[in-house]
Amino acid sequence: MANKNTKKNNYPKNVGIIMDGNGRWALKNSLKISQGHKQGVEIVKKIVEESVKQNIKSLTLYAFSSENWKRPKAEINAIKKLVIEAINEQVPELKEQKVSLKFFGHLNDFGKKILQKIAYAENKTKCKSSKLDLNIALGYGGQQDIVDVVKNISSMVLSKEIKIEDINEKTINKNSSVPVDEIDLLIRTGGDNRISNFLLFQIAYAEIMFVDKYWPDFTTNDYMKCLNNFKKVSRRFGRRI
Ligand code: FPP
Repeated sequence: MANKNTKKNNYPKNVGIIMDGNGRWALKNSLKISQGHKQGVEIVKKIVEESVKQNIKSLTLYAFSSENWKRPKAEINAIKKLVIEAINEQVPELKEQKVSLKFFGHLNDFGKKILQKIAYAENKTKCKSSKLDLNIALGYGGQQDIVDVVKNISSMVLSKEIKIEDINEKTINKNSSVPVDEIDLLIRTGGDNRISNFLLFQIAYAEIMFVDKYWPDFTTNDYMKCLNNFKKVSRRFGRRI
């Protein structure tokens, strides 16, 4: 039985989503893969809106992994195009809703055009008291991020900026490209039960929910079910309560 110290959860502060299943959704509907990604962006818009409504603090989305560079060039170009289109279309509305956009990962690999768009989107939506921080992972891999962090901290140790004994979890978060330190709820659509190299350090205590639906079929109702399920979970963080 829950004792008086057992706290009921609120909605999660920091949500992460692995938006899987665009390709299979397209094939199922006899469409081109790029149309699956296009429909995926439509779902992103709805989930962002709902996150603002539900006072979620941050939403971190896996849009393109380090491993996605192995996909056909035409598909990669279609995703790049969608990112640019989404920025062009959505920035004014995001600004209006006080949604602050941030991109992270190995962004330089995407070329000058996207880098300029990203800088524009981040500047335009910069906001002191944002309602929602929307973080988009592009060319991101959790293992690669940890390697980058180790390199950064090693060079700080070598230049005597920091002592080895002062390295802790905060040092890792500070040196990571990931804008959020810890994820409370991670959702993966598409039916597979794996993490696929997403936010490895930040999901240490996340509740993980796997949804057996392709991302373009994911609805705000499904999202609300995940948020409400999160409320029911007892989060002990290793304690006995
Ligand atoms: C996973 O489906 C989805 C992706 C790799 C790309 C997701 C990208 C977008 C929705 C567009 C860009 C997003 C923003 C926020 C601007 P999959 O292709 O791996 O699906 P499959 O497993 O069925 O093949």
